[in-house]
Amino acid sequence: MSFDFPESSPFRRSDFVFGVATAAFQIEGANQEDQRCESIWDRFCATPGKVVNGDDGSIACDHYHRWEQDLEMIAELGVDAYRLSIAWPRIMPVEGQVNSTGIAFYQRLITKLNELGIKPFVTLYHWDLPQYLEDRGGWLNRETAYKFAEFADIMTKALGDQVTSYATFNEPLCSAFLGYRFGDHAPGLKDDKFGFQAAHHLLLAHGLALPKMRANAPKADHGIVLNFAPAYPLDPNNQADIDAADFDEQQGIHWFLQPLMEATYPEAIRQQQPLWWPTILPGDLELIAAPIDFLGINYYTRHVIKAGEHGPEHVRLEGVERTDMGWEVCPEAFSHLLIKLHQRYDLPPIFITENGMASADSLQDGEVVDQQRCDYYQRHLDAVAVAIEQGVDLRGYFAWSLMDNFEWAYGYDKRFGLVYVDYASQQRVFKQSAKYFQQFLKQRKGI
Ligand code: FCB
Repeated sequence: MSFDFPESSPFRRSDFVFGVATAAFQIEGANQEDQRCESIWDRFCATPGKVVNGDDGSIACDHYHRWEQDLEMIAELGVDAYRLSIAWPRIMPVEGQVNSTGIAFYQRLITKLNELGIKPFVTLYHWDLPQYLEDRGGWLNRETAYKFAEFADIMTKALGDQVTSYATFNEPLCSAFLGYRFGDHAPGLKDDKFGFQAAHHLLLAHGLALPKMRANAPKADHGIVLNFAPAYPLDPNNQADIDAADFDEQQGIHWFLQPLMEATYPEAIRQQQPLWWPTILPGDLELIAAPIDFLGINYYTRHVIKAGEHGPEHVRLEGVERTDMGWEVCPEAFSHLLIKLHQRYDLPPIFITENGMASADSLQDGEVVDQQRCDYYQRHLDAVAVAIEQGVDLRGYFAWSLMDNFEWAYGYDKRFGLVYVDYASQQRVFKQSAKYFQQFLKQRKGI
């Protein structure tokens, strides 16, 4: 059992960071413990029909109680880093008040990670907004951006330089568009205009928080995590399809990256859909475009797009490899994306903060054989190596996810972990892919 791992591989660089990632709501459980308040995801889960099987985050992987053994498991994998997120509802369960018990939980985690020699990569917001803020409009309310900056200030003061790297947000596109535009995620609203306004407020919140974070943790890196699915025209010779794919990227990629890098939003949106344009106050874009130390990129799949009657339409190609999410496996699009972004923007160093796949894993005779996932990782790591060879400044790679967990609207139905979780017993079992990863990391270090 061994990875294809040539001498010339860029991953032999000892400063290239390999890690695994999780998010608070997806693993912690204990959603009523130690004063934690309700989040928009607790409310969404409790709304009939929103989450598959009516699953919720009340227990999840019970990580809130099992954190210590989970961190030991991470150490056993042999990774350099662990990406986790902070549950805002644990930190500020009552508006304007700080819950020291919530802070202490994360301080313990970070201390232990440092003891184990694992670099903590912290994401401040991975989708679990306190419900009391949603009750006042959530990300549609500009005030929420200021509330986030307060939370970021408190958290970075508490953890300071113990943390290697802070990201303000995970995938603001999902919070804004899945949450407020398409209704698939909490809080479940459906309005194009809402989606773009929420996106602007999330980016504004990033801009407002950044100076506070830098002041509190001057040695840490500070950045943001975006998710990108590059768009390909169904017919590359059809101009309408080409334009439709481009418009898909204007919304999905450039709407988020361009303001951060260039202090402007893509004009294509204003021209083609003027009603979507959000309210932006003078000075907002300058705040948003303050320099960041790194850009986190999450990549899972690509989009294939054709021109439809009402704009770009997603096409489901037949005969291509897919994951249990139905997402096409396309590592070539991963390297193309990275190279394309590198050519288009003056980017800071990049970390791949998520990459991975869901499969219908099962435990048989104590083993989980997930060959497709091993191949997926192998091919996507190769794609990262190609991008590095082409000059993209890539500094690290995180697998999503450490272990099976609550996959948002899909509940516990979809398994993304390197480690299998038997939810009934909370037993963790290394899948074949975890062993592959372990082997890969050992080989890299020449062990
Ligand atoms: C990303 C999310 C992450 C996980 C993966 C599969 O969009 O950031 O929490 O659910 O998808």
